[in-house]
Amino acid sequence: MPEEQRFFCKFAPNFCFMNSVIVKDKTFRPFLAAEEIQKRVAEIGARISQDLEGKNPLFLAILNGSYVFAADLLRHITTPCEISFIRVSSYSGMESTGKLTEVIGLKENIEGRTVVIVEDIIDSGFTMEGLVNSLKAKNPADLRICTLLTKPGNMKVDLDIPYCAFEIPNDFIVGYGLDYDGYGRNLPAIYVVE
Ligand code: IMP
Ligand code: MG
Repeated sequence: MPEEQRFFCKFAPNFCFMNSVIVKDKTFRPFLAAEEIQKRVAEIGARISQDLEGKNPLFLAILNGSYVFAADLLRHITTPCEISFIRVSSYSGMESTGKLTEVIGLKENIEGRTVVIVEDIIDSGFTMEGLVNSLKAKNPADLRICTLLTKPGNMKVDLDIPYCAFEIPNDFIVGYGLDYDGYGRNLPAIYVVE
């Protein structure tokens, strides 16, 4: 991973952009401010635009978690592109099950296409590995992973991730599309469980 992507989140004690939030039965404290997220999303968007200029990329955003990230990211893509939304489900509650599930809702023919997977977070990596294998079988010309977050300390598989906005510790987070049992996706910033 390039040096400028090695961003480890620090939380200054006096950094106050919103107080703790309660999502269902858990308390979360501020972790990444909305402005910080927007800045990195813009940078990633600019990089992808440069790398895939004229390649007619198809962005495949993974529902539900990546809908906020995908919407913001796409507005920083300056080359003609398409976006479509697919679903994979291998996660429930606060711990990854590691189960692999099928890709649901892919209508586009991706053979010979430049495809960018847009994901909210890669934790163990099992979800992404399963998805990459399913999509590779459909013979895209180029398949790249773009994720808002990774938890390198939890990664169980070997994945090439050219576009990652933030590397974070192994804590559970919510906000900016990410949920805790379905809630918290609407928060504009990212919060970490207490
Ligand atoms: P993996 O298969 O372990 O990589 O899990 C990836 C999926 O788990 C992501 O797409 C998220 O939906 C979910 N996930 C992993 N960590 C978190 C977290 O901290 N908060 C919310 N969802 C998470
Ligand atoms: Mg997800």
